[in-house]
This record gives sequence, C-alpha cells and structure tokens, in this order.
Amino acid sequence: MREQRPVIALDFPDFETTKAFLERFPEEETLYVKIGMELYYACGSQVVTYAKSLGHSVFLDLKLHDIPNTVKSAMAVLRKLGVDMTNVHAAGGVEMMKAAREGFGDQGTLIAVTQLTSTSQEQMQKFQNIQTSLAESVLHYAKKTAEAGLDGVVCSAHEVAAIKEATSEDFVCLTPGIRPSGVEPGDQKRVMTPAEAREIGSDFIVVGRPITQAADPVAAYQKIQAEWNS
Ligand code: C5P
Repeated sequence: MREQRPVIALDFPDFETTKAFLERFPEEETLYVKIGMELYYACGSQVVTYAKSLGHSVFLDLKLHDIPNTVKSAMAVLRKLGVDMTNVHAAGGVEMMKAAREGFGDQGTLIAVTQLTSTSQEQMQKFQNIQTSLAESVLHYAKKTAEAGLDGVVCSAHEVAAIKEATSEDFVCLTPGIRPSGVEPGDQKRVMTPAEAREIGSDFIVVGRPITQAADPVAAYQKIQAEWNS
C-alpha cells in the first residue's frame, strides 16, 4: 500500500517553529508529518494533538525499546493520542513487538527499526557481537518483525526489494534518505529520488530538510509529491 503523501520530517526544536511551518500550508492540504524525539521531548503530546487538530496524519518516531509491559502501556497512550504510525526497535524482541501491537491496537501502522543506518557492519559485528553481514541482520530483524505481527520496517530504499522478498509484498517499507533530483544530499549518504523510491517499491518516503529548509516549503513539498506519484 503506497501512501501518496510524502511524510514530512518536522525536525524542529520547538512548538512555535513547527506551528509557523505548518501554517504556511493551505488549510485544505492535509499532510503526513513525522514527529521525532527532538520535537516530542521539547513539546510533549501537545504537538501531536496540534497536528491532529489540523487534520494531519502523524508518524511519531520515538523508537521504543524497553520491557514488553512498559512498551505495551506506552503504546496504549500513543493510541489514545491518535498517533497514526509509530515504531519500536526490533532488537527489543518478538515478545516486545507483540506487546507493542497489543498496546497500539490494529488501527494504526506499527513498524520497527532493524539496524540503524548509522551502524556499520564492522560496528555491528564488534559492538553488538552479531557475526553475520549487516544485510543478513536487517533481513533477520524484518522477518521477526513480520512474525510479531507488525506492519513493516524503516529501511534504506536500497533494502526494500530484499525485505519484501523475505517477508511479503504488502510488508510496509518506509524509507528516509530521499532527495529530489538536483538537491544537495547533505549528510545523507546513499540517497534516492522520490521517483526511484517509488520504482523500487517504497510504501512511504520521509523527507525533511529538502522541504523544511526550502525557501518555499509548500512548492518544494508539491514538487516532491508530484515526483513520488508520477
Ligand atoms: O532532512 P532529511 O530528509 O535528511 O530527514 C530525514 C529524516 O529521517 C530525519 O528525521 C532522520 O532522523 C530520519 N531518518 C533518516 N535515516 C534513517 C532513519 C531516520 O534520515 N535511517
């Protein structure tokens, strides 16, 4: 299932900046926004409630990782807040992921982080003591995520084909690291354009700075959306 709206990463430090950004969009333009740790820890649940009051869908990117009971209770709170999508670390285990599903319910989209893209294979092998390739570890976690009854994973666009092959076509792949053609990649290393991400089967793309830092964020968003849906 491909979501037609690119998910905008609201990587802002405070409520005022977020509000000023969202107010630039026409009222009838309902967005899909990603609220991460920085903004959530700065503002708390009011930023979720605010985005929902504007009619936007919210992906709360908090990457929960704790004992199953704690994760289940936290997820029940997020469900009450009306969060549309959220995530956990697959490393928390199948029991934790099942508990997350129970707490969050079946309505929203619940996905897992496999290996963070900032983790290198060498780091994984030495620090986590996992003696396999990074690609194998990602696939292992994706399969366990599916087994736990979650909807999908956050992954690099380059991993989508292998993950769908190992799980199923409708296993959700949400991919950050997207840059429209002609835009500086910045600190993102292996980027893809929205059109390429669509080609390889991403279900959701996450785009931050190319929209949030653009001189005209609305125009930048519409251009990316058009490329994603072309
Ligand atoms: O500004 P940019 O488009 O690079 O933002 C991408 C968003 O996706 C940020 O919120 C970043 O934390 C997140 N992200 C990522 N790569 C991952 C996982 C999350 O860029 N592997």
